[in-house]
Amino acid sequence: MLRLLRDPYLIPSEKQTLLSDIAAEAESLRMPCYLVGGCVRDLLLGRPIKDLDVIVEGDAVAFAARLVEVYGGRQTSHFKFRTAFWHVPDSDHVVDIITARSETYEKPGALPTVKPSTIEDDLRRRDFTVNAIALRVDGKGLGEILDPLGGRADLERGVIRILHPNSFIDDPTRIFRAIRYEVRYGFDIEPETLNSMNREALKVLESLSGERLRNELDLILDENESAKMLMRLAGLGILESIHPKMPEFTQDYADYLEMDAHLDVAADRRVMGFILWFIDLSEEEIFLLVNRLDFSNELSLAVWAGAQLKRSLPHLTGAKPSEWAYALEKLPLLSIYAVYLVTRENALLSYISIWRHVRARTTGEDLKKLGLAPGPRLGEVLNRLRAAWLDGEVTTEFEERDLLAKLV
Ligand code: CTP
Repeated sequence: MLRLLRDPYLIPSEKQTLLSDIAAEAESLRMPCYLVGGCVRDLLLGRPIKDLDVIVEGDAVAFAARLVEVYGGRQTSHFKFRTAFWHVPDSDHVVDIITARSETYEKPGALPTVKPSTIEDDLRRRDFTVNAIALRVDGKGLGEILDPLGGRADLERGVIRILHPNSFIDDPTRIFRAIRYEVRYGFDIEPETLNSMNREALKVLESLSGERLRNELDLILDENESAKMLMRLAGLGILESIHPKMPEFTQDYADYLEMDAHLDVAADRRVMGFILWFIDLSEEEIFLLVNRLDFSNELSLAVWAGAQLKRSLPHLTGAKPSEWAYALEKLPLLSIYAVYLVTRENALLSYISIWRHVRARTTGEDLKKLGLAPGPRLGEVLNRLRAAWLDGEVTTEFEERDLLAKLV
């Protein structure tokens, strides 16, 4: 295991330095300290780790305070769960440090009640065996693996397995996590685990807050193979438990999640994902779903605009560029781009890359100098000039001035 901890491909050198600083302080405080969860799983799979997830048998808040005292930076703490983030000085690294704890769920789907405990107990409260492996990093134990639940064997077999039959009832967000790991790593969800995604668990899922559900869908949309994950969710009948109107994600749209970076449209995989996902829904269905999933106003608008534009496309086909520009002006660019990808309507691409940038040479100031009072009329004249450029009615400044003379 020491070999993995020192591999610069798996743990870049600045993270290795951080880890040895953390380990040195843990040792001096005699606080057993481990890496745990996703980073150990990824190390064992030979994949570069994303974050350092540190767990101590002892008070993580006090431990983070010590790191700040010795190395600088700052901490943010969650006192109820005795967890802390150490914001490392002069870098954007944030280390997650938690207190080893046991958890009990008072009510299915509710957040758990926690109590400081041993590392073994902490591993037992987790979602899947492959996420319940700890790797000691301090003192003489450095490099020791703690794997009481058979996580390594499951990693080797390529299996996602819950730790106890009630796992999904306690926390149905784990259903989404299981599918994320299954597709991401090309693993299989083990049959008993699959059986536990049963009616009882889905009933609890139905009562989860929109925010928690959307957070899981966001995490899926961040993944490379998100379309495959969403299709798997549909195949298992899980989307219906979010809301009966939740559509399947269309396989044909999968490639469109990768944005074309050559266009100056701000890319956002999550927003793009939801626009594509809901693009064939009616206004009423969208209304129900954005409420269920607690979308922000901005996201709701983007999704609504995509579906609305796709529906109204037949009425716009053959319209003049100025009419296209008028119809598209108020819509989010990403929604327009999504509809272009799905329909290949060239006018949409022309709007994104050319038409939306076209302006009349004459400005509002010029019009005021010509004696036009500020107000709607002034805007109308500017729009008329712009439309003339867009539709090829004027092609030079001279022609624009000519037209202007007729207008005012
Ligand atoms: N965890 C859990 N149940 C959950 C969420 C998280 O048991 N509902 C535990 C798992 O042990 C997980 C760890 O908390 O490994 C950290 O969670 P998170 O950071 O969400 O996941 P990662 O394992 O880091 O996975 P990913 O690569 O998807 O971020």
